[in-house]
Amino acid sequence: MLSGEMKGLLLWSSLLCALIMAVGGTSSYNVHRGLSYRAILDTDVDTDDLFALLYLLKSNRSEFNLQAVTINTNSWTNAGHAVNQIYDILYMMGRDDIDVGVGGDGGILENGTIQPNVGGYLPIIDQGRGTAGPCRYRQAIPVRLDVDTNMGIRRSFLPQGNRRYSPLRQPTAQQVLIKTVSEGPVIVFMTGAHTNMAIFLMTNPDLKKNINHIYIMGGGVRSKNPTGCCPKNASSTCQPQQCGDHGNMFTAFRSNPYAEFNLFGDPFAAYQVFHSGIPITLVPLDATNTIPITREFFEAFEKNQRTYEAQYVFKSLKIDRDTWFDDQFYTSYFMWDSFMVGVAASAMRNIRDEENEFAEMEYMNITVITSNGPYGIPDSSNAFFGDRKIPKFNLKKNGVHSGHVQIGIQDPFCFRGNATGICKDGYTEEVTGPDSVRVRVATRAKPNVDESSTLDREYYANFLDVLNRPQYKGRFNFTTEFPYYKEVLYKPDFKGKKLGKIVVFDMDMSAGDFLALFYLLKVPVEELNLKAILVTGSGWANVATIDVVYDLLHMMGRDDITVGLGDSFAVNQSYSKVGPIVGDCKYSKAIPHGSGGRLDSDTLYGLARDLPRSPRGENKKLQKLLKSREVSTHHKKKKKTKKKKKQISEILTGKTDNFGWYEGSVVIELSSLLGLKICRYTAQNSVKFGAPRDTDFPQLRQPLALEVWRSLVKSIDDGSKITILTNGPLTNLANILLSESNASSIIQEVFILGGHINYKKNQEKGNVINVPSNKYAELNMFLDTLAAKTVFESSLDITLIPLHAQRKVYALPKIIKMLQAKNMTHEAVFTRRLLTRLHHLHQRHHLYRHVDMFAGEILGAVILAGDQKLLNSTFEIKHLKVYTKGQLSRDGEVIFDKKKKKEFKVLQGFNHVSCYNIFSSGLLRQKQSAVIGSFGEQKRRWSSPAA
Ligand SMILES: *[C@@H]1O[C@H](CO)[C@@H](O)[C@H](O)[C@H]1NC(C)=O
Ligand SMILES: *[C@@H]1O[C@H](CO)[C@@H](O)[C@H](O)[C@H]1NC(C)=O
Ligand SMILES: *[C@@H]1O[C@H](CO)[C@@H](O)[C@H](O)[C@H]1NC(C)=O
Ligand SMILES: *[C@@H]1O[C@H](CO)[C@@H](O)[C@H](O)[C@H]1NC(C)=O
Ligand SMILES: *[C@@H]1O[C@H](CO)[C@@H](O)[C@H](O)[C@H]1NC(C)=O
Repeated sequence: MLSGEMKGLLLWSSLLCALIMAVGGTSSYNVHRGLSYRAILDTDVDTDDLFALLYLLKSNRSEFNLQAVTINTNSWTNAGHAVNQIYDILYMMGRDDIDVGVGGDGGILENGTIQPNVGGYLPIIDQGRGTAGPCRYRQAIPVRLDVDTNMGIRRSFLPQGNRRYSPLRQPTAQQVLIKTVSEGPVIVFMTGAHTNMAIFLMTNPDLKKNINHIYIMGGGVRSKNPTGCCPKNASSTCQPQQCGDHGNMFTAFRSNPYAEFNLFGDPFAAYQVFHSGIPITLVPLDATNTIPITREFFEAFEKNQRTYEAQYVFKSLKIDRDTWFDDQFYTSYFMWDSFMVGVAASAMRNIRDEENEFAEMEYMNITVITSNGPYGIPDSSNAFFGDRKIPKFNLKKNGVHSGHVQIGIQDPFCFRGNATGICKDGYTEEVTGPDSVRVRVATRAKPNVDESSTLDREYYANFLDVLNRPQYKGRFNFTTEFPYYKEVLYKPDFKGKKLGKIVVFDMDMSAGDFLALFYLLKVPVEELNLKAILVTGSGWANVATIDVVYDLLHMMGRDDITVGLGDSFAVNQSYSKVGPIVGDCKYSKAIPHGSGGRLDSDTLYGLARDLPRSPRGENKKLQKLLKSREVSTHHKKKKKTKKKKKQISEILTGKTDNFGWYEGSVVIELSSLLGLKICRYTAQNSVKFGAPRDTDFPQLRQPLALEVWRSLVKSIDDGSKITILTNGPLTNLANILLSESNASSIIQEVFILGGHINYKKNQEKGNVINVPSNKYAELNMFLDTLAAKTVFESSLDITLIPLHAQRKVYALPKIIKMLQAKNMTHEAVFTRRLLTRLHHLHQRHHLYRHVDMFAGEILGAVILAGDQKLLNSTFEIKHLKVYTKGQLSRDGEVIFDKKKKKEFKVLQGFNHVSCYNIFSSGLLRQKQSAVIGSFGEQKRRWSSPAA
């Protein structure tokens, strides 16, 4: 028998049958020859996965037909961003019939029971109840910004259909798998981590017979990573990076040179899939390393883009190339997932599917390493064993799953003694004996039979051919869907107004932060001049959600407000050796990934897509003009002509807002005058900022939080000061204090929404959901305790709006009721919809029990800008500090400082009805209202010439 490892696990109930199938190899699905195969793609929605998806959609449907896409959420992307991107691609391709599954809010119980609504946000070993948890393997994945946005291409290119994520309505990955597999035989393509499929197989052993074959991109068997090698004549100081490694984990090769990202995402899940008995074809790094995106291929592709899907893929590749590390794109960017689907499609076309046109194949006996020897020594790294009497899933003590399991990419166990790491978790190792599985493995890409071609791999030509086929081609892109599409930037006219105090709003993009932002934009500019927004990814949302901020600003006619991108990790939580792209989730693991957590923040509870879409400076003419630097430098020296002055003033006074037709130098001037650098996130970058090369439009580069801060400080008049409101973890503010020595003298005062002051000792609890041992901290302090310490110990003038005050404004229905008027503003309509949705979810489902706290997040903005007399607010002076000793049960607690080092103004009392009133009447004011109400309105304007 196999190893006996899985005794008791349902998966093995059909062991015998499985073995027979494995040995029988490929014959089992030949039965369906002649019919069209039904197919499922399980993907982690990285850029390369999109190429695979589009290739599948373009393949001949009489050969196979994609039925469903399930999304793997514990790897490269966040669920909310990933699912909407898939919906949009399918919409472009006219395939709204394809089911899409993502997430689920359940987990795996202590006794190994897998809940039917299991989410898959965490690898199987870390699954508990719910969707919050550590990032043991996921921390190898770089900050999920470029993938979530597809480097900014996603929302500039893909049209947006009606399907979208919606709370409690989204089919889960497991539901979609069960439905699709129940309906009849399928083949499965896997291009991400294996969590979804493993859970499916473990819980539905009876349906396994319907899966005829699984094609996997992942692992490296005999591979030797060709990247990061030292040149032959290199000096002795050259450190070979991944050179010769089996795996490809460029963020973690020192601890684990064996694993490839997909299998490292959940090695135990991969083991279940490989050992399921279902015939498997593996396209590992062995093969993909032999098919890089070469310069020749890239150039051939550039000339060959006859469909929207080809354009989308090329654009993605191009910006990937332009931003690729060390400028090593042509030698280290391979066709991974896209090659696998090609090999699979070719194998299925052939009568004897041993053969395919694109890769040489070989049978190998392999397994997936899930833990490291010596086995059987109790080790807290291994949650299947730990100190349990009976291991989870009845796994065997002293068996292959019982060793040390890598706990993070800097796990000291993995570095023992040697320069290269010893951990093999996720390695597809060649083994013999009872624990091995016979798998068909692609070993290398086949050369082009047409030897005269510049494309030296057979698959290069096929890939371009398939993507450019007229058959099943995409219908339109975002701009061509609308006959009167026009890109517009909005800037308000403040001429003749005396502007109020300069304010910077720092947010972590929770739903409450967007409520606060709407309100801030409605405060008369004579009182409050919101100049910049800083966002962090260390709290409720992924940094890619920055696009929702841009869209809201666009709606409100405020494309002039700059938005700075902050860190994704709490202070000291990123791994400095690798850079700020990877780190630990020590604190942010308290935020759930699923319902009520990041999934909902990232999509603004499903409503973000109703906001009008901000432009990206993609305007052709503007781009061309921005590109020709001569124009801009030339213009600086030249005096403004009368005509140009008039054009500028027309734009500034709002007589026109479409600057597309203006002459070059005027546009350049405007972009600097208005601060219109970008209005949406893009991965554009420039050498000036450390990128390996300039992208096409380096001017569109997303500024970082610190850069926005610096340019704001530079731009304000002497003697002016800046007021800051923070509505999230204090990461950005701490980084400003740590790097700018003059910060305290320029900051007027800071309003901090957060901190829990435990007045009635041990009675009133904090709100760190998911860390039950921590009773008295408040999330904004907890999520970045070192940042809180830095800010608390600074000389800043701080007003604290603590949790107990916020709790007085949790009554969602009261605000909803007040947000009514005969003449509603667009922003009031949107806000009311959001609050109503929060309220319904709060009423209906336990996972949304905390969402009333987002209403409390309006309080900071109202205290900062509202009428204090009406509010009747009172403050008291307290001496405070914050607990930061690294103990999760106490970190983030605000405690009274007996040494009385520093004074804080703490909001004590206020009239909460007035607070609702101030907030709602602000939103209902007709002035400073939205200039474009919604995405729907935008679509109407772009559909007829009248507008
Ligand atoms: C596992 O635990 C859950 C709840 O704790 C219980 O309902 C279920 O019956 C248990 N299952 C088994 C197989 O022991
Ligand atoms: C959409 O397609 C058209 C026609 O191919 C192209 O000119 C345009 O640039 C595309 N839009 C975007 C945003 O790339
Ligand atoms: C794989 O294992 C089978 C027995 O399970 C054996 O017959 C075969 O020779 C092995 N193949 C390789 C390449 O080691
Ligand atoms: C790793 O270190 C051990 C001793 O700690 C040594 O025996 C072994 O040869 C080293 N391996 C490599 C690959 O350097
Ligand atoms: C109603 O709102 C619109 C748009 O905000 C505004 O133009 C109009 O003057 C308002 N009407 C009244 C009666 O306030």
